[in-house]
Amino acid sequence: MPHAPMPEFPTGFRWGVSTSAYQIEGAADTDGRGPSIWDTFAATPGRIADGSSGAVACDHYHRYAEDTALMAGLGVTAYRFSVSWPRVLPTGAGAVNASGLDFYDRLVDGLLANGIDPVATLFHWDLPQPIEDAGGWLNRDTAYRFAEYADLVAAHLGDRVKLWITLNEPFIHMSLGYGTGEHAPGRTLLFDSFPVAHHQLLGHGLAVGALRARSGSPVAIANNYSPVRPMGDSPADHAAAAAYEALHNRLFTDPLLGRGYPELGFDQDVVRDGDLDVIAAPLDVLGVNYYNPTGVRAPEADSPLPFALVPLEGYPRTAFDWPVAPDGLRELLGWLRDRYGPDLPPIQITESGCAYDDEPDAQGRVSDPDRIAYLDGHLRAVHAAIADGVDVTGYFVWSLLDNWEWAEGFTKRFGLVHVDFPTGRRTPKSSYAWLREMIATAGPDPLR
Ligand code: FCB
Repeated sequence: MPHAPMPEFPTGFRWGVSTSAYQIEGAADTDGRGPSIWDTFAATPGRIADGSSGAVACDHYHRYAEDTALMAGLGVTAYRFSVSWPRVLPTGAGAVNASGLDFYDRLVDGLLANGIDPVATLFHWDLPQPIEDAGGWLNRDTAYRFAEYADLVAAHLGDRVKLWITLNEPFIHMSLGYGTGEHAPGRTLLFDSFPVAHHQLLGHGLAVGALRARSGSPVAIANNYSPVRPMGDSPADHAAAAAYEALHNRLFTDPLLGRGYPELGFDQDVVRDGDLDVIAAPLDVLGVNYYNPTGVRAPEADSPLPFALVPLEGYPRTAFDWPVAPDGLRELLGWLRDRYGPDLPPIQITESGCAYDDEPDAQGRVSDPDRIAYLDGHLRAVHAAIADGVDVTGYFVWSLLDNWEWAEGFTKRFGLVHVDFPTGRRTPKSSYAWLREMIATAGPDPLR
């Protein structure tokens, strides 16, 4: 497929791929790992589209060396993975599982040996089940347990991890996990889930302190953002769009950058004196996960929510039915710059990617031109944002491998590398070859 040459990215720009533990590792009952909320959720009939679980997933726990070789072949300079809290602390707190830590030692050492920076996310949604049994993120204690866990991981890997990410998408974990129940732990509290926001952010702030004490490496959080588009001109439509923007884009950013919580009409009784200072601990990098913009209009009169979400027309769509909107990424990055000004840390795009129904042809090749077009468009959007003056220092593709996509099970393929789930066989797709070429030509990196 013909594309104009990609403009060059700044020297030192970080090229990466992202994954998360529960989606790829498998080995759910191996070497002392404890249960997570996703094991429980996936075992509940009707929760996962194809009835599957992450018990085996991509078996990355056993195939990590092969996967590291795939990354080395791609030419990425960084790998964003997540540490499984229940693998290193099977009951969530207290007794440490040394075998679990050993796995991450092997992984990190293998990455470094291949010239790939390890970027570790500490919480990518797989809460230890015993922590959930004690109230999960509704319970303030979970923030303290999270900081202890961060301290443990940093004590072991702090000399080798090059960038820490505390939480992955606390907004999605709150809204789908505790608000609407589509994700684990499957609660349906709607706006009563605000304590989950606050306790995650408090846990983040406490973890930043623990990481700084143990490691000289920079610290980030990875937030999900979606530029909001009012789908009507009435004041009610604009008010609905503003409410959604506060919830999705500001709730997890304003307090991090010292602005306190946006006005959302929540009961904020759980916020104690001093919490906002902990949460506003300085960040070195803001991780931006971007998939699509959101169309919003005024809700129906009997709606429990102050907004209604409406599909955006006029864009191609992925197999997830998400609009392919690279313009939204440039718009989002400009919004962050305009809103937060000098308080905004440098940004790395910590997730960007798409699902398509990729399958091998008769020769075993997997051609995914739609993903190539997607990545091409989104990289150009990042480049344009840099030219607009936004400090973007890296881009991680979601994902290296086809993997277990939460409530969608194995039905959504996001990988640069195809995985045949019954056998675990990996086949790089045509997007892998495209990205390799792109990194080699558009991304001079003095480190390589
Ligand atoms: C993000 C998640 C990631 C993956 C992608 C498709 O919201 O962080 O684990 O599921 O969506």
